[in-house]
Amino acid sequence: MERFYIETWGCQMNELDSQRMAGQLMQQGLVPTRELQQADLILLNSCSVREKAAQKSYSRLGEYRLLKRQRANLRIGFCGCVAQQEGEEALRRNPDIDFVVGTGRVGEIESVLRRSRRGERVLAVGFPEERPYDFEAISRDSAHKGMVTIIEGCNKRCTFCVVPNTRGPERCRPMAQIMSEIEHLVEYGFLEVELLGQTVNHWCEPPAPLGSGQDLDFADLLNAAAVVPGLKRLRFVTSYPRDFTDAMIAAVARHDNISPYLHLPVQSGSNRVLRRMGRGYTVEDYRRLVGRLRAAREGLALSTDLIVGFPGETDEDFQATLDLVEEVRFASVFAFKYSPRPNTAAIRLPSADEVPREVADERLQRVFAAQSVIQRELNEELVGRKFDLLVTGWSRRPGYQAGRTDCHRIVHFPVGDEPVRAGTLTRIRTLEAYDHSLLGEMIAGRC
Ligand code: SAH
Ligand code: F3S
Repeated sequence: MERFYIETWGCQMNELDSQRMAGQLMQQGLVPTRELQQADLILLNSCSVREKAAQKSYSRLGEYRLLKRQRANLRIGFCGCVAQQEGEEALRRNPDIDFVVGTGRVGEIESVLRRSRRGERVLAVGFPEERPYDFEAISRDSAHKGMVTIIEGCNKRCTFCVVPNTRGPERCRPMAQIMSEIEHLVEYGFLEVELLGQTVNHWCEPPAPLGSGQDLDFADLLNAAAVVPGLKRLRFVTSYPRDFTDAMIAAVARHDNISPYLHLPVQSGSNRVLRRMGRGYTVEDYRRLVGRLRAAREGLALSTDLIVGFPGETDEDFQATLDLVEEVRFASVFAFKYSPRPNTAAIRLPSADEVPREVADERLQRVFAAQSVIQRELNEELVGRKFDLLVTGWSRRPGYQAGRTDCHRIVHFPVGDEPVRAGTLTRIRTLEAYDHSLLGEMIAGRC
């Protein structure tokens, strides 16, 4: 029996790619293992979005190399965004890597492995037109949500971002395929489906022969997906602020099962910085969008991504970001220190504009401090309310389980007479708020 072990870094796309590779390997008769020491095949699915993540994958490769010294038959596959970016260079520099599979070639893992077994060091990178995608061969290892890629790659050119290089140009899957996959997931028992894309709301029906060529956009897809019988929760990440249309907002307002929680990265609260980032919107545009969304859907919660210390960011620019955080009151903020990435426009900005590391560190801490107060206050507003909780599994706190409200808040609750099965709904009342979660108790009542 051949065992495989997959290590995944990075975003939901990488998670789903790992599930796709696992599914294909299982179809070939390989079995998954959680023990690195037992694996005959290791796949490292790498992330390149910030330098720290990329470095992590090199250090993991170093550790795998040591394992290979002990076990000559061990096969190592380097996958994901760093693998796509480095391509041949990765094979050249790391003699212990048996094959390299980029993000556009995930569907080919079986033939790559076959060639590798014949002794070839395989390089499978780039973004071919034909990309096999078999959704029935995905090993869905989440109990509570099924992820569906609707749009791959990215055509935007945010000056800090490596994703357009590592995930290639934008490519939309046809509506018919997406709908079959959603129906398949709901039939399988998932109550929640999460649509994925770097700019998920930029989806449109592709031209023939790949798609039908009909004039359909993300609003049409939301309206079709939300009415799939049995689908309790529909979520989507990541929306690009500029691509939100009135019809999409109307869809979010119309369908109760669309989660009233949107991830809407703003990156900065300063127009000067936004312009240098090439984001294509102003803070005023963003504010207006938030206003329209909140007017359309009561209780809508928002989360965002922020970059601090982007080249040229002054104290005033940063203050504008803090002001926006205070004003919008996000339910959650993912803030990062700017990290220069290869082959992006921002690395060509003058070095005089570089923000010293201590300044960037301090700004990051100030965002976190401001946000944790806001988050606690927002969570406190939810205390004493009743929710349908989608149970995600065990809590880290012994004797407790955890789940998500429809507005995506984490609630921990003491286990009842019997544990609630992950992936099902239970009715709870919230009792206490923390910065990152709430405490609740199960109550009688139907979901
Ligand atoms: N497609 C998404 C984000 C992709 S990357 C979008 O439209 O925003 C996820 C987040 O990582 C980004 O939103 C950004 O905040 C952060 N990020 C990307 N490149 C970065 C860099 N070079 N340095 C620091 N943070 C970065
Ligand atoms: Fe990156 Fe901007 Fe696309 S952040 S993924 S280039 S929308």
